[in-house]
Amino acid sequence: PVKVEILEVGEEGMLTEDLAYNLAVSEADILGYLYSKGVKPDTVHTLDKDMVKMICKEYDVEVIEIDPVRVEEMAKKKEMLDEEDLDMLENRPPVITIMGHVDHGKTTLLDYIRKSKVVASEAGGITQGIGAYKVLVPVDGKPQPCVFLDTPGHEAFGAMRARGARVTDITIIVVAVDDGVRPQTNEAIAHAKAAGVPIIIAINKIDKDGTNPERVMQELSSIGLMPEVWGGDIPMVQISALKGVNIDELLETVMLVAELQELKANPHRNAKGTVLEAGLDKTKGSTATLIVQNGTLKKGDVVVCGEAFGKVRAMFDDRGGRVDQAGPSIAVQVIGLSSVPIAGDEFEVLDSLDIARERANACAESLRVARISAKAGEGKVTLSSIA
Ligand code: GTP
Ligand code: MG
Repeated sequence: PVKVEILEVGEEGMLTEDLAYNLAVSEADILGYLYSKGVKPDTVHTLDKDMVKMICKEYDVEVIEIDPVRVEEMAKKKEMLDEEDLDMLENRPPVITIMGHVDHGKTTLLDYIRKSKVVASEAGGITQGIGAYKVLVPVDGKPQPCVFLDTPGHEAFGAMRARGARVTDITIIVVAVDDGVRPQTNEAIAHAKAAGVPIIIAINKIDKDGTNPERVMQELSSIGLMPEVWGGDIPMVQISALKGVNIDELLETVMLVAELQELKANPHRNAKGTVLEAGLDKTKGSTATLIVQNGTLKKGDVVVCGEAFGKVRAMFDDRGGRVDQAGPSIAVQVIGLSSVPIAGDEFEVLDSLDIARERANACAESLRVARISAKAGEGKVTLSSIA
């Protein structure tokens, strides 16, 4: 399989999925190896630092330990800002993902936010759109946009993380008060920490009888997430997604955390960003949902994403309506690409179709070479292996 020579791992260890992706082996291989050595991880989803090191040694991959400061630096680097943008920066909306254990109320929360905030800002129903919802949250009486990503629905999720693409600014982790911290809660925390994304905890279902939010806070502090109200740095809001209790407070917290991050981009330039998902539509042809991370994407722009390229023939927003442009943090579905790009790929607007074609071909060629050197072709080709 294709190998990356160097892998970075933080104090929190690594997701098995990410390690497998990076080493171009299967998760079963990794777990099998651990078991054969008599090592049993607490959960098959995450591996601690020592296990990661052990496996990397087996695959001849060097491990570099990263400290939190480096994580932050990396995160900044991934914001897709160039030197020449620095004079033209403007505030951009925060991009937020909601994560958490099964049935803890992620969808209910997102639905509530969308119903109460999306419809209020724009008349008409909510159509099942592209899984990236623009919502207006009042801050000091003024509506401020923010964008919620329905990440679990995005095929790109694992791939994006493994490639280090960073599209989210804030993670809301939902913990049901009657169930507490569960395996996927831990996983979500690991995701957020690995990406250096600030965490807000939503303790959900507080409308239920006889529940004890303090117990959940206790649990969270025991795994290193100390609530702000206890002198720590993790905001925790007690909500009922079902009844809509304290959702405004949660959104205010989101906006506060966003403000501290000073999220900026330069809207006055060619767009770049990341492919959230892509597919083939019977009538539209190849479609791609792109999230703009810097610049402004316009109808008619020439884009390249990996091996796919083309002129943006039309763009659709989260309600399926046609739009002519999309600024920083906004996701749109575009049509007009030559082929279906890969979720997690970065996209970029270029000056001409010729340049785009050249770039797409160059990418296709390097992928081809990497595939050949992957011999059996079984190993997954990762961007880091061909960079
Ligand atoms: P998955 O997508 O399967 O991981 O679940 P989820 O996290 O999206 O949970 P979902 O929103 O589907 O909610 C699961 C169940 O919990 C549903 O029956 C909801 O009605 C219920 N639920 C969600 N939020 C609340 C809440 O605040 N209070 C109460 N009492 N029930 C809730
Ligand atoms: Mg759900």
